[in-house]
Amino acid sequence: MTRFKLNGRSVTIDADPDTPLLWVLRDELGLTGTKYGCGIAACGACTVHVEGKPVRSCSLPQSAAEGKSVVTIEGLSKDRSHPLQRAWIDEQVPQCGYCQSGMLMAAAALLEVKPHPSDQDIDAAITNICRCGTYVRIRRAIHRAAGSSK
Ligand code: FES
Ligand code: FES
Repeated sequence: MTRFKLNGRSVTIDADPDTPLLWVLRDELGLTGTKYGCGIAACGACTVHVEGKPVRSCSLPQSAAEGKSVVTIEGLSKDRSHPLQRAWIDEQVPQCGYCQSGMLMAAAALLEVKPHPSDQDIDAAITNICRCGTYVRIRRAIHRAAGSSK
């Protein structure tokens, strides 16, 4: 059994300890906002927060979440009012949308440690892949959310 806090509530998981956290979130807990892209920690579509840090959940055994706090895109805000979610809409960031929950979670983790990131900070922190090429709008939205005029 693995017990952890998910978006503020306690959950108990009865699954193979090596099952990737991504599949527990999606298949056991029904939180399908977190996406599967590559399964090898390369694309970032599966990014969630564990103890406030961005983690690629496709490559983290669910047992590693024991006793920790996990936040998914569904828990980023109660009503889509997180500054990044509002900025994403204002800047019309998504194209197909597939990578975007991972992008938002990576961006949210960045703003926690760097409330006013530079372009270089963003490029260094957001290593997620977007096959639609929305990188420029993502950068703009992060600056908007940070209250920057860039
Ligand atoms: S699905 Fe996890 S990094 Fe690509
Ligand atoms: S918006 Fe399509 S992959 Fe990023």
